Amino acid sequence: MREIKDVFNKKVNHENEFDVAAFYHENSEFTCLNVDSKLQKISDFYLLKKDPLNVTKDLFPFCEKVELLKFKKKWDFSNLKKLLFNRRTRRSFAFNKLSLQKISDFLNMSYGRKTVGDNILSTVPSGGALFPIHLYLFSINTALENGIYHYYFKNNYLDQIKVVKNMGDDIGKYLMIENLESKVPLYIVFTADLRDASLKYGNRAYRFALIEAGHIAQNMSLIAENMKWNSTLLGGFFDKDLAKMIGVNYNYEKPVYAIALGESV
Ligand SMILES: Cc1cc2nc3c(=O)[nH]c(=O)nc-3n(C[C@H](O)[C@H](O)[C@H](O)COP(=O)(O)O)c2cc1C
Repeated sequence: MREIKDVFNKKVNHENEFDVAAFYHENSEFTCLNVDSKLQKISDFYLLKKDPLNVTKDLFPFCEKVELLKFKKKWDFSNLKKLLFNRRTRRSFAFNKLSLQKISDFLNMSYGRKTVGDNILSTVPSGGALFPIHLYLFSINTALENGIYHYYFKNNYLDQIKVVKNMGDDIGKYLMIENLESKVPLYIVFTADLRDASLKYGNRAYRFALIEAGHIAQNMSLIAENMKWNSTLLGGFFDKDLAKMIGVNYNYEKPVYAIALGESV
């Protein structure tokens, strides 16, 4: 573990301009050594706090209230409204083989390429249009051979990174999937490649990367809902082990999020 003095001595990643971000990232990692104490903290949270976020409390009791109006049917929100309100985290999946057509549609909609004038953009926004997020598909029961595939929105193809015959067997070594109730045909891991974005934005690039991962994830949740797939977003994983499994350079490319996907049961 790096120490804070190293950060301020500019010994950490200064060549990539994200020294403080790297320090923060490292200090929020799950490892097989610290995971028990982290999980204990999570269960203590539920034991100790009855209304943890106090969400119903009026935070501004001294303010006059402006009542919002009922939904105006005039706007054509019909499908979007349905998707937004039906979206749920669903933790059981049919273990049906996912076709390449469905996977392509899913990727093209949630993090697809579009051209606007001379610019290559995506269905998600990105700070400075630098698009630091890369996706790695873990194929367990899909039309793709079992293994790991890289997707970047600019390319209309997947890179077959490696074949892993027993892809589903050891997934718990990388992703914390204790809450999932069935086998999962497809996981997608999001990584943030901080090189370009940090040249421009320094440590703030890391914030942007996390926000952009959220944009993609929200799209994925809604697209999954539309395709009658179930999805569970996963914030818990063993960072370095996961990066090693994929084969990315952890010095600058960090796993930041993941999603479990499969047809609904
Ligand atoms: C950042 C983030 C991380 C999450 N990580 C996990 C996870 O590791 N495992 C899990 O089962 N659910 C995970 N979830 C799903 C939440 O538990 C779920 O969104 C929440 O209970 C609200 O339910 P809903 O999504 O059905 O509205 C995560 C959600 C978010 C936004």
